[in-house]
Formats: sequence, C-alpha cells, structure tokens
Amino acid sequence: MRGPGGRPRAEHPDGGLSVGAPADLTVVDLSTADLHPAVDDPALNSMNFLNEVAQHYPDAVSLAAGRPYEEFFDVAALHRYLDTFRRHLADDLGLTPAQVHRTLFQYGRTKGVVHHLVARNLAVDEGISVDPEAIVVTVGCQEAMFLVLRALRAGPGDVLLAVAPTYVGLTGAARLLDLPVRPVAGGPAGVDLTDLRTQVRRARADGLRPRACYLMPDFANPSGTSVGLADRRRLLALAEAEDLLLLEDNPYGLFPAGDAERVPTLKALDTGRRVVYLGSFAKTVLPGARVGYVVADQRVAGADGTVGLLADQLAKIKSMVTVNTSAIAQAVIGGALLEHGCSLVAATVRERAAYTRNLRHLVAGLARRFPADASPVRWNVPAGGFFVVVTVPFPVDDALLHRSAREYGLLWTPMAHFYDAGAPVDALRLSVSAVTPAEIDLGLDRLAALVADELARRGASGRVA
Ligand SMILES: Cc1ncc(COP(=O)(O)O)c(C=O)c1O
Repeated sequence: MRGPGGRPRAEHPDGGLSVGAPADLTVVDLSTADLHPAVDDPALNSMNFLNEVAQHYPDAVSLAAGRPYEEFFDVAALHRYLDTFRRHLADDLGLTPAQVHRTLFQYGRTKGVVHHLVARNLAVDEGISVDPEAIVVTVGCQEAMFLVLRALRAGPGDVLLAVAPTYVGLTGAARLLDLPVRPVAGGPAGVDLTDLRTQVRRARADGLRPRACYLMPDFANPSGTSVGLADRRRLLALAEAEDLLLLEDNPYGLFPAGDAERVPTLKALDTGRRVVYLGSFAKTVLPGARVGYVVADQRVAGADGTVGLLADQLAKIKSMVTVNTSAIAQAVIGGALLEHGCSLVAATVRERAAYTRNLRHLVAGLARRFPADASPVRWNVPAGGFFVVVTVPFPVDDALLHRSAREYGLLWTPMAHFYDAGAPVDALRLSVSAVTPAEIDLGLDRLAALVADELARRGASGRVA
C-alpha cells in the first residue's frame, strides 16, 4: 500500500493509517523487563492481538468487533452538533461570545462542560437523579475506569472483584495500577451473589481489602447476560451488608432486543451511594469522540475534616492524566444530547432496531446450523446488546482464531481473552453490532464449516489425531 508521496502506508492496528518508514528493530535500547510489568501482561496484549489478526485478514467476515454500526454515521451531523452546543452555551446558559469561544477553544473545566447535559440524560433515560457536580466527563469510559481504580487502589492490600468473564479493558487498567483482580462467578443470572459474598469474605480472610466489585448488569460484554431486577436489589443489599462499592459499567443498556422493557440500573436503585456508575457515549453516539463519564456521588472526608464528593478526587487524578476531556468532543456529544431532548433512547431508535434485527438473525441462524438434537454446539440468547457466547466441544484458543481467519475467512473472539487465567476456554464470542444480516449468514456458514472440520479432526476422543 502506498501513501501520499509514494511512502509505504501501513494499517494502524486500531483501524487507522500510519505513514512513514517502519522503525529499525534490529537495535535494542530498552527491555520490557525494565518497564512496568503490565506491558507484558496478556490483558494489555489482548486488544492489540485481536486488532492485528483482523488487520492480517481484512477480507474475513468479522463477528469479532464490538464496534457500533457504521451506516448511521453522518459527517454533517458532527457540524450540526457542534453548532447546537455552541448555541446552547449562548442562548440557554447565557454565556457571552468570549465565554463561548473560551469554552470551545481553551483548556477547560476538569470535570467537563457537558456534565449538566449528562445529568439531564441520566434523569430522562434512567430515572437517575444526580448532582451534575458528581459527574466527571472522561476520555471514554476507559478513562473513567482508570480514574476510579487509581483512586480506590490505596495500598498493596487492596483488591478488586470483577464478575467473570470480564471486559479486558477493566483488567488491563487494574494491571497498570497494580491492583489485583479476583473473579466472581457470573453465571446465567449475570452475577452469582453467593460467590460474591464468598469472595468478599475470602479476600478479607486473606488480609486483603476488596475495594469494589465491577460488573455490567445489562447485556454484558462478553457474556451477553443481564442481572434481573430482584437480583439487582439483592446485590445492593449485599453491597450494603458487606460495605462494598459496586462499579456499574453500562455501555449497552440502551439496546434491549425488541420492545423489551429496560430494567432500572443499579444506580437508579441505589439509595445508599454504593454504586459508582460508568457511562460511555461510544455505542450510543459515536466512539470517535472518545467521551464517557463517571457518576461518583460518594461523600469523601478529607484530611482537613472537610467532606467532598468522590468526583472531586477523581477530577484531581484526571487533571494529571488528561487535564480535561476535549471540549470539541464534548460539544459534539452535547449537541447530540440537546438535539434529542437529552434522551439517548430517542436518539438511538434506528440503532436499537438494527441491533435487535441482527441479534435475532444471529440466534436464528445458529439454531438452523446447529440443531439441538444433532449438534453439541450451544449458545446463550441475550435479551439485548451486541454479544452472544457460543460453546463448542473443543478448546478455543488464538491458534484456532488464526486458522478460522486464514482458512475460513471468519473472525470472532476467543472467550479466553476475558478470563484472567488465560487458559483456553471452550467458547467464543460473536458480535452482531458492526455487520449486516447477509454478513451474519456468511459468517455462520463459515463457523459451521470450521466446527464440522474441527469435530472431524478431533474424532470421538475430542483430541486432535
Ligand atoms: C464493557 C465496556 N466498558 C467500557 C468500554 C469502553 O468504552 P469507551 O469507548 O467509552 O472507552 C467498552 C468498549 O467496548 C466496553 O465494552
């Protein structure tokens, strides 16, 4: 591939483009042994690995990417959103032209400039009533996770509990912060409350301090599972009884399949400020803006006896990580919110329909290709979201993914990437978010061929001959 000026142009692992001569890697200046140990950790290599496989096989059908559907992206909307937000600053908030310019062009408020709109969105869509001052607008939900874990990791005895399988971005962030993650069983109900209690008590018996439990109660990545209303209430009661914080990550909650009622978030049910709520606009508006947020309304006593919000402590940390979230990116998100009365439910009607259609198409397609009476392949049927987990009677590792991509033209995600132990798991994750029904059909035909060949290769023993 040639770039401008005839220079070689390489695909960036994350899908972008890099231009220039490749680095000479025959000379060594440093060793990873001298860097933070996390850089060699599988959790940090996971996203790169998956991106690199996708990049090597650009023609493969990808049921791997958890990216949002791209057909609805609209460049004209970006300009409009910016202008809508600019007018909001002037007309609704009464800012002078100089103040409007400063807000859009300058370094800005650490906790963000669309916090009031995020608060309104939470009220409109989630029934969450929160002081805008308790919100920190972040560079994606990823930064929000990082800030919260950084704040909570006070010493070497601190650990994080996380419902397994776990989003790899959470595990990677914890690694960078030297915060061990202990798994809590997820299971079909989304969280095994008995195991959560056991893990809290075990950690304490081991002399450790479990700071919080991370989970996605709605259409989790990667498991697709959701926590029912009764269990949400039990979980909050358990958190209260065990004096534990809950980190609720909710990027997919607006995408229940069909007309299904949405279940209230943990934060909406939280009367004791047990829940730190992590939000993302990546799946609902656009990931390119890199805007997310955290609601941290917990009261924190300072060394001087004053009491403030956890959000203010997170803002101090943020000021040393990203200073503030891009005002331009926030303006785009703010404009999108304003144009829809701050309701992302209203803003994502087309997306919800597309994801519903795809999820149903995938599940029906699996049932046709792997009939229950003739096939050992099983899968869950999520009530919404992007992801389905398919269980097969053989280990699913990175080598199999490579073979799937090379020989069958199909990408998916080995479930092993979402477990800390790193051992192969007999399951893979399929994503429906960035494909068409025709691509789903093609992908499932290829998956059926791969599974049939793999079963034949392994024979009755389940081992490769
Ligand atoms: C569960 C979960 N949390 C957080 C994120 C990251 O969100 P953001 O793009 O806002 O950083 C993702 C992205 O896929 C995700 O699946």
